[in-house]
Amino acid sequence: MKTIAVANQKGGVGKTSLCVHLAYQLAEQGYKVLFVDCDPQANASLTLNEFSSGIKASQLFEPAKLPVIELGEGNIALIHADPALVNLDRAAMSIIETFMEQLETFAEQFDVCVIDNSPSLSLRTTAGLFAADFVLSPVQVESYSIQGTTSLLQTIIGIRQRKQQGGGDLVFIGMLPNLVNNNSPMHRSNLKELIEAYPQYVMPFKISNRTSIGEALADQMPVWKINKSAAREAAKEMRAALSEVQNRMGLATREVTK
Ligand SMILES: Nc1ncnc2c1ncn2[C@@H]1O[C@H](COP(=O)(O)OP(=O)(O)O)[C@@H](O)[C@H]1O
Ligand SMILES: [Mg+2]
Repeated sequence: MKTIAVANQKGGVGKTSLCVHLAYQLAEQGYKVLFVDCDPQANASLTLNEFSSGIKASQLFEPAKLPVIELGEGNIALIHADPALVNLDRAAMSIIETFMEQLETFAEQFDVCVIDNSPSLSLRTTAGLFAADFVLSPVQVESYSIQGTTSLLQTIIGIRQRKQQGGGDLVFIGMLPNLVNNNSPMHRSNLKELIEAYPQYVMPFKISNRTSIGEALADQMPVWKINKSAAREAAKEMRAALSEVQNRMGLATREVTK
C-alpha cells in the first residue's frame, strides 16, 4: 500500500478537493483505495459517504483491533472523520505510532491510502505525514497563502529528515497551485514568484478557479463526470495534475474500468 497525505495548514486551498478526486481517479482504474479523513470538519466524509467502512478515524489512534473492511464495487473504503479527532491534538506523541500501526493492518488489502488532513500542522497532521510515503500540498496563489509556505516546507522537510534517520522516507510530490484566477495579474505574479522561490517544489501544473469543482463534490462525483461544458476545462486540468501525482507515486496508469 502506497500512502499519500495531502497537507497545508491553510484552509480552503483545495486539500479535500484534490484528495477526493485522486481517490476517484485511482478507484476508476481499479486500484483499491483506502481513504482516511483526519479532518473533523468531515468534508471528504460527506462526499464519499457512500463508501463508508463504518470505522471512525479516531479509532486509528487507539490500539483496539479494528473490524475487517469489506471493499465494495466502488473500490474506495472510507474511514470517516469524527468529532473525537479534535481531542487527539492534546494526546501523547505515542498516538503517531499507534496510527501508523493501525494503518499498516490494511496494507495487504489496499493498493493506495489517501489521507486528508485538517488545515493545521497539528499532532494529527504530523501523524498523517509520518504514515505517508508521499505528500502533496495544494497552494493558493493569494499573498496570505504564500506566506505560509515556508513553515509548511519546514514541517515536511523536518519530518522527512526524521523518517530518513529511521530508514524511511517522505517524498514531497510538490506544491500544486489551485484556485488560480487566470485573469488576475496578482495571481499571475504570485505564481511566478512562488516558482522562482521554490523551483524544485512547485509542480508544473495548475488548477484554475472553476465552480464546477465544488459542484462535483456536492454531487458526490468527480468533476469529469459532470455533464456540463463548463466542467470540461476543470476536468482536463484536474486529470492532468492528478495523473502526474499518480505517476510520481509510481502507480501506472491503467485503463478505466468504471
Ligand atoms: N479549483 C477550484 N475551483 C473552484 N473551487 C474550488 C477549487 N478547488 C476547491 N474549490 C472549492 O473551495 C472550497 C475549499 O476547498 P477544499 O478542497 O475544501 O479546501 P481545504 O480542504 O484545503 O480546506 C470548497 O468549497 C471547494 O469546493
Ligand atoms: Mg479540507
